[in-house]
Amino acid sequence: MTLEPRPGVMDVQPYVPGRSDASGAKRVFKLSSNESPFGPSPKAIAAYESAEPALGVYPEGTSRILREAIAAHYGLSAERIICGNGSDEILHLIADTYLRPGDEVMFGAHAFSLYKIAALRNSATPIEIPEPHLKMDVDGVLARVSPCTRMIFIANPNNPTGTYLSVSEMQRLQSGLPDSSLLVIDAAYAEYVGKSDYNAGIKLVDDSENVIMTRTFSKAYGLAGIRIGWGYCPQAIADVLNRVRQPFNVNVAAQKAAVAALADQAYVEKVIRHNEIWRAWLIDEIRKFSNKGVRVDDSAGNFVLLHFADAKGAHDADRFLMSRGIIMRGCASYGLPQCLRLTVGSEEANKAAVGALREFVSS
Ligand SMILES: Cc1ncc(COP(=O)(O)O)c(C=O)c1O
Repeated sequence: MTLEPRPGVMDVQPYVPGRSDASGAKRVFKLSSNESPFGPSPKAIAAYESAEPALGVYPEGTSRILREAIAAHYGLSAERIICGNGSDEILHLIADTYLRPGDEVMFGAHAFSLYKIAALRNSATPIEIPEPHLKMDVDGVLARVSPCTRMIFIANPNNPTGTYLSVSEMQRLQSGLPDSSLLVIDAAYAEYVGKSDYNAGIKLVDDSENVIMTRTFSKAYGLAGIRIGWGYCPQAIADVLNRVRQPFNVNVAAQKAAVAALADQAYVEKVIRHNEIWRAWLIDEIRKFSNKGVRVDDSAGNFVLLHFADAKGAHDADRFLMSRGIIMRGCASYGLPQCLRLTVGSEEANKAAVGALREFVSS
């Protein structure tokens, strides 16, 4: 008998991270992974360094200091918060815990690619809901609900499209789901949205038994490298996830750094303000090229999605931009081969990106 992984595992296309190298260019701007151009607060760096004496001992296994800090900041119960090695870990943990072979898992056709991997590795059936407007289609989801529907993943806002569901759209979606299915709201970019009809999902978690919200310190808090995310769940789900999560899944430096990052709201507000200003600037500038074969969508995240005439157009642009040291993210793995995603960077990076794009469309 040969050793075989679970059905579905070999259908997984390995996750392709944003590239980080543009060899040959004099100056390189990595705008491919939606990281913060500012990195973490200096207070988070100091807290990280303060972990040094504790490196030889296991961390407190429940991330208590961080759960309590998150609970105090958002007015939540610490018992219902679960922390993980990035929100990726929480998303996988939810899928690994609740999916059975044959269950159906829905997500948008242009959604964050982890959801499909999470379904396939559990021998569940991924169901991609078409997104004609590059936005999660609530009616499309509701029309596809069946007794097999176990999980719906929604990135709100979504990566890479930058679209989001309003509070009322999300409520309508949740109220049309059976109790036997779990709605997972992945709010990795929540801090950046800044729209009055948006919230990250806390109230929906509070008002129901089948909604989980996940968050991350990788984006606005600038801690992607140290891997720290969290989820807010109904108590019964938190109890289940705590049985199966790894006992020491968040390292001591990550716990300390995240607590300090959360406490430094003035720093995060600066990051968010920078993003608002430069996201709008990038969109305005790129729209000036709209008669030259590149178009850009509005975005609620820290990135914008650029559309070219076709996949070749995106590929040619990508090669040209790489030669100028601008690393964007190809979107073929998101079902958008004609698109490139550009992370909002520093002022210098944003100006360099627009300059290179201008050069490309004029060439
Ligand atoms: C929509 C979405 N969810 C989750 C994540 C994962 O974040 P983390 O670094 O917390 O694992 C990302 C990262 O790019 C993302 O875009």
